[in-house]
Amino acid sequence: MYKLFFNLVFKRMDPEKAHYLAFRWIRLAARTPVLRTFVAAALAPRYKELRTEALGLRMHGPFGLAAGFDKNAIAIDGMAMLGFDHIEIGTVTGEPQPGNPKKRLFRLVQDRALINRMGFNNEGSLAVAARLASRSPVFRTTVGVNIGKTKVVPEAEAVGDYVKSTERLAAFADYLVVNVSSPNTPGLRNLQATEALRPLLTAVREAADRSVRSRRVPLLVKIAPDLADEDIDAVADLAVELGLDGVIATNTTISREGLVTKGDVVDETGGLSGAPLKERSLEVLRRLYARVGDRITLVGVGGIENAEDAWQRILAGATLVQGYSAFIYEGPFYARAIHKGLAARLRTSPYATLADAIGADVRKKADAA
Ligand SMILES: Cc1cc2nc3c(=O)[nH]c(=O)nc-3n(C[C@H](O)[C@H](O)[C@H](O)COP(=O)(O)O)c2cc1C
Repeated sequence: MYKLFFNLVFKRMDPEKAHYLAFRWIRLAARTPVLRTFVAAALAPRYKELRTEALGLRMHGPFGLAAGFDKNAIAIDGMAMLGFDHIEIGTVTGEPQPGNPKKRLFRLVQDRALINRMGFNNEGSLAVAARLASRSPVFRTTVGVNIGKTKVVPEAEAVGDYVKSTERLAAFADYLVVNVSSPNTPGLRNLQATEALRPLLTAVREAADRSVRSRRVPLLVKIAPDLADEDIDAVADLAVELGLDGVIATNTTISREGLVTKGDVVDETGGLSGAPLKERSLEVLRRLYARVGDRITLVGVGGIENAEDAWQRILAGATLVQGYSAFIYEGPFYARAIHKGLAARLRTSPYATLADAIGADVRKKADAA
């Protein structure tokens, strides 16, 4: 049904316009009490066996919405209504910015993929903090806040920009993510090098502790799939050394390998997401888990289309999983299908709990070696 609608309506529209239209509908439904109760009952069923404890937080399930969909924190309840169990808002930058000129979002339908060069279009840390402060949640959900660098701020002053966002936003974050992996802000990914990452993460940690005294806000870093294996190991080691709470793997890729889609769209500048990212994101996750085990919470994202993909990420070491692109192609039943399928897989698996399944494939491989 959604596929038919997608082909007849959304596919013929500019992707960014379609995004905002869908967004409006979701927000409208979430503001209408009877409708939102009905939709949530249908799309956000809770499975006891999927109850998850991650980052010191209790969640209903492991699957959530990846950053970038709700950059300004305007649809948290709407996305919770659709069954996403945690919502990562942002990327929010220190200062407001319009992002790159349009067109900046492209569909590769045959590949079930997207290319985007949005460039962190967002209202900035002050406005988003004010929105989060005045929010009265309808659904109990976990809210992650993903922060990045304002484009006009030079790389050498990046730390100050992240610290500014942290001071304004940490109080409203169930967890905080330092995004150093978007390909659409010039120089941003250089911050993944440990010489740059160490002072950045240290400063953000200190800023979070300074501004929120009542609890320790979990801090994660989000990395690119294009890092070389040694660099992934270096980030993993640094994360352990600094006592970071988690790593999110991965952001979009600049690679265009293995695409079925032909034509100019493939050459659009930006980050590729969706199905073609699946294999590399899984590989990065496996590598991270092999390195850090359960010392750090891993979040798997990139090309998760269905419950089987999500299950494979859990077996590869992810405690939480996230999706974005497949939501565009699969529609409103996406999160529901994933949680339902995960619960079914867990029931027929050899694992008593979801926690037992985390990283099981990697541990098995290590034992066999
Ligand atoms: C249009 C678009 C915008 C995005 N914006 C952000 C962002 O602002 N911050 C971020 O950390 N990731 C952003 N992402 C990356 C996603 O959070 C996710 O890491 C990536 O798309 C891989 O997941 P997927 O294959 O399920 O889409 C964006 C992705 C898309 C498609």
